[in-house]
Formats: sequence, structure tokens, C-alpha cells
Amino acid sequence: MKMWSSRFKKELDNVANDFNSSIDVDYKMYKEDIKGSIAHATMLKNVGVITEDDFNKINEGLNSILSDIDSEKLEFNLNAEDIHMFIEEELTNRVGDPGKKLHTARSRNDQVAMDVKMYLKNKINILIEDLNKLIETLISVSEENLDTIMPGYTHMQVAQPVTFAHHVMAYVQMLSRDISRLIDCYNRMNENPLGSGALATTTYPIDRFETTKLLNFKKPTRNSMDSVSDRDFVAELNFDISMVMLHLSRFSEEITIWASQEFKFIELDDSYSTGSSIMPQKKNPDMAELIRGKSSRVFGNLMATLNLIKGLPLSYNKDLQEDKENIFDSIDTLEICLLVFNGMVKTLKVNSDNMREKAKKGFINATDLADYLVKKGLPFRDAYSVTGQLVSYCIDLSKALDDLSIEEFKKFSDKFEDDVYNFIDLDYILSQRKVYGGPSPEAVKIQIEDTKKYINSL
Ligand code: ARG
Repeated sequence: MKMWSSRFKKELDNVANDFNSSIDVDYKMYKEDIKGSIAHATMLKNVGVITEDDFNKINEGLNSILSDIDSEKLEFNLNAEDIHMFIEEELTNRVGDPGKKLHTARSRNDQVAMDVKMYLKNKINILIEDLNKLIETLISVSEENLDTIMPGYTHMQVAQPVTFAHHVMAYVQMLSRDISRLIDCYNRMNENPLGSGALATTTYPIDRFETTKLLNFKKPTRNSMDSVSDRDFVAELNFDISMVMLHLSRFSEEITIWASQEFKFIELDDSYSTGSSIMPQKKNPDMAELIRGKSSRVFGNLMATLNLIKGLPLSYNKDLQEDKENIFDSIDTLEICLLVFNGMVKTLKVNSDNMREKAKKGFINATDLADYLVKKGLPFRDAYSVTGQLVSYCIDLSKALDDLSIEEFKKFSDKFEDDVYNFIDLDYILSQRKVYGGPSPEAVKIQIEDTKKYINSL
């Protein structure tokens, strides 16, 4: 029998009942639901809507349900309409009449909005912790590789030398922005919808400020209709998670490239690689590929959430029940991806010799050669043109710029002197890129310090 069955002459069709039920998804919020109910009952007692005795029974009953679910003594009834109905029914089974008073001055509409916010707030904190752990790993990889020269690319063409530390720290910047976005999202959703009722609050003298305090929200929401129909925070968190996944996906793409035979910049640990069922030699970067792949489902969840909300009139509509599966999936996906990514990066081996070798190819020091001529008095455009001619000369002879004799250099400009070799040396080039935000080991050390300070300040 449904709680609302008194108004109906027939029972709900079995298939319709399954279709309508959301407990297979929203059971995850049982802790939040129980905590919210205890706060609601506490407030009802304090404003005199229920007696102290009723409250004590409700409180005991809810706590016993909580510990029985925690210890798996109580199983979720999948025929229940949702987690809210399940817990309320179970409460009444356990404590009788006082249980029937719990829902006074409350609707599932404000209840579910509150549950979801509490659940997401908690998950945001966990995601931020996991992101911090990954950042810690990335910073320690960077600290070990301040001098590991590697080619930097634009258009996937060798451009200028950087270090592995600088490259990895670029991702740390992205992930720090992600943390700051998650904190914003947390702060914006930190308003308590409980007390909004179905859509128009209630005539009971409830105290929304009290439940707000009891449930660790910053303040109550300001409009009851908005409160029960607002799912902006679900969309926003889905976006924030999408951004993290986007960053992990880009990084995974690079890791996949770096682990290839063609690059061999890194070697993934056996514990984070897989083999092939037919090709015995294969060692595949499946973890990185899967993380890249899983980003797509998270983006799908974001789109689904936006589409879910866009056509809904105020206030609550049952469509909103569909908000949870997507965001829960995004959270679970990100949690596991952060864990796997962290382990994969922690255990990978950096082939610094190989990176350096590759950095010597592709005329990576051509810009610096042009800068050398500028230093000797040539305008930059002329220096650029002379260097272009030199590169073309080298291509014809299959040589690197460093291989040319001083006589060859002088054929192109009389400004060249013996000090040119040092000026276009990889280590020298790198040590000179010490502008704030640049790749020189000194600058990257400062970057690491400032990034740590930035994250601590969030
Ligand atoms: N299971 C519902 C949801 O997730 C709870 C709210 C139901 N409210 C209602 N009026 N039917 O949205």
C-alpha cells in the first residue's frame, strides 16, 4: 500500500511502480535523508509542533535505521518508491504513531533537494581531497624532473625546449583551477532548501534557520519555489567534473603518446599496463585510454542534466528525479579516474635520455639562434631570416645547427662568433628561460612554490 493510496481507487500498475521507483539510485543518500529528518524533527520539537516524547521516539528510530543500514542488517526494499518513503515507512514500522508525524510541515520536494545538496557537498570535499593527492604526486614528479629537458610542441611539431617538470606543472595549474571551481560550486549550493515544502512553505511556525544550522548549511534558500525546482547546482557540478575529466583526458592522451615506441618518453609500470590477447609483445596504456574514454560519458551526463532542466516550468516536476543518476555517475567516474591516474603517474618511469635526444632534433634551438644574432645587433626580422636560411641549409645536409662549423655560420652572417655554440646549447637555452612562468629549473621551482601557496589560499 502506498502512503498516498487513500485518494485512489486502484493500485499502481506493477510496471508503472517499477518505472516510478528511484530507490535503486537514491538509496545512496540514506545517511543524508536520515540526518535531514533528525534535524527536521528536532526543529519541530523546538517550535512545539511535536512533543519531546514523539521526538525522542523518532530520533531513536531513525538512528536505529541508520545503524542497521550501515551494518547491512536492514536491506533496501526495491519496491519502495524512493529512499525518503522507504525510511519513513520503516520508521513508522519501528516506532508507530510518532513516525507518522515526521513528515509534518515537509514535502519530499524540499526533502530531496536538501538530500542531494548534502550528498553532493560531501562528495565535493572528497573529490577535492583526491585532486589534492594527485597534485601532490604531480608536484613530486616535477621536483624530480626540474632538469629533465624535453621538446615542447606546438601543432605537434617540435617548437622550443621545456622540461618534463614544466610540462607536468601545466596540468597542476589546470587541476588547481578545478579545485577552485569545485569550492565555488560548494559555496553556491550551500543554502538549505528544507522548509520550502512542496513549493509554498507551510503554515506551521517552522524555523528554517535552525535546520540550516543543524545541517551545516550557510543560510536558508530565499525562495521556496526556486528551492524545490533548482537543480543548477547539479548542472554546475557536472560541468566542474567535466572540466577535471577533460584535463585528465588531455593528460592521458599525452601519456599514451609518450609511452609509444615512437616517443618512448616514459614507460608505464607493469602494474598499470595491459597486454594483448594475440600480440605477445604488446604493453598497452589501457588506463590512460580508459580515462580518456570515460570523459565522454561525463560530458554526456552534463548534457543530459542541462536538457533535463531546460524545459521545466516551476516548480517541482517529476523529471527532476532523473537528476541523480547522471551526477552520481559523474562523481563515481571521476573518483575512480583520479585514483587510477594517481597510481599510474606515481609509478611511471621517465626516460630522460630519450627526451633529451628528441629535444636535440627538429631545430629546437632555432629561435635562440635568431636571438643570438639580435644580441649581436641584428634586428629580429633579419635575424629570423638568416636563421631560416641556416635551417634550410642544414636540412639539405641532414645536419643540426650545432653541427655547423664557425666558417659555415659566418657564410650566413659575419655576426657569428665562437660563443654561438654555448648560446644554442640546450641546457643553456633552458637556464635562460627564467621569466616568471617559464621552464628554467629556477622558474619552475618558483612556480611550484607559488602553486602550493595558491592552492592553500583557496
Ligand atoms: N524521488 C523523488 C525525486 O527524486 C522525490 C520527490 C518526489 N516528489 C513528488 N512530489 N513526487 O525527485
